[in-house]
Amino acid sequence: MRGEKHNWSLETRAVQGAQGGDPVTGAISFPIYQSATFEHPALNETTGWDYSRQGNPTRSELEATIAALEGGLRGYAFSTGMAALSAVLDLLEKGDHAILSEDLYGGTWRLFDECARRRGIAFDFVDTRDVARVEQALCPTTRLVLAESPSNPMARVSDLAALAALCKQNGCLFAVDNTFLSPLFQRPLELGADMVIHSGSKFLAGHNDTLAGFVVVGSGGSEAQALADRLTLIHKTTGAVLSPFDSWLVLRGIKTLAVRIERQEESALRIALFLQGHPEVEEVYYAGLPDHPQYELSRRQASGFGSMISFRVRSKDQIAQVLERVQLIRFAESLGGVESLITFPWQQTHAAIPEDFRRRLGVDERLLRLSVGIEKAEDLIADLEEALVDCYQYC
Ligand SMILES: Cc1ncc(COP(=O)(O)O)c(C=O)c1O
Repeated sequence: MRGEKHNWSLETRAVQGAQGGDPVTGAISFPIYQSATFEHPALNETTGWDYSRQGNPTRSELEATIAALEGGLRGYAFSTGMAALSAVLDLLEKGDHAILSEDLYGGTWRLFDECARRRGIAFDFVDTRDVARVEQALCPTTRLVLAESPSNPMARVSDLAALAALCKQNGCLFAVDNTFLSPLFQRPLELGADMVIHSGSKFLAGHNDTLAGFVVVGSGGSEAQALADRLTLIHKTTGAVLSPFDSWLVLRGIKTLAVRIERQEESALRIALFLQGHPEVEEVYYAGLPDHPQYELSRRQASGFGSMISFRVRSKDQIAQVLERVQLIRFAESLGGVESLITFPWQQTHAAIPEDFRRRLGVDERLLRLSVGIEKAEDLIADLEEALVDCYQYC
């Protein structure tokens, strides 16, 4: 890896990537090796590249880059975040049991509810903020604990080091979905997790222009190597690998990750405070607010709070109004990109979760989720002010 001896900061590594461009030609931008297959020099000889499902130089550069940023042994780039989560599910077998954060992306819920159940894998959704509850849910067949922290959409924060220690004691794998913070703000492998998962479609790619997913395996000895070998097999066998062009897009996105997330976070705090003071907003969920219940834990285990804010308006009639009236903030699913997006989790990202469960979490008909982009904070606040002002005048 380029500059390995120099102990570069993560911000610098993100710009450089693993190799710092193309070692062969000197191209600063890593080339897109848009080839499905590679010629063999002779029988029993290979250039190191055979067929792009097994390995492609552009994807490999991206995988080495994400592994370096997360501090892991190996990274795997998938076509989507869901494909990455499916590969983690593929590690389990009939009769195994998994524990998942109860507040998490609706697609992850559906993956377990639909696919794990059919395969005879048992699972429980637990409040992973409470380590004692996770301990109670453990059983002899538990092979995986999967935590989303901060969670989507309620911004719950789980104690990752405590969960990692519990999993280690009980011989099960601990995976963290790190989509909301990215490795520049949170590195779960350093806190003891075995695997990190990302929807690379979000902060890593960063421009709302491509889908991607990652699994990164920690670097803890022979067990980590065995896990990496298993994932290598699953990745190339199930085949939901990231294309060379999409790999390049994510590599390019990662170069600006540090400056994007710093600005997004700065704006998010201002917007969260604005929303907290607004008469039409009942509650704001953002781990960067000092009165967030896990504010101190967030400060301890992460170097940033991110830029995802959920908030509950006073009346459900306001939802349609806000979504119609925002001009700058776009009403669309997804998050983490340069454009600010607003989502209605009840009907969109979390619709797969049973209604009573959603309500218990707080994902109800009055909750909106805002992904803060890189536009000027003043413009975003003015947009929200206009959308919310009209509501309380006319609803
Ligand atoms: C936390 C989290 N994990 C995973 C996913 C799935 O990622 P993708 O949409 O790239 O399949 C999402 C999607 O929104 C998400 O928010």
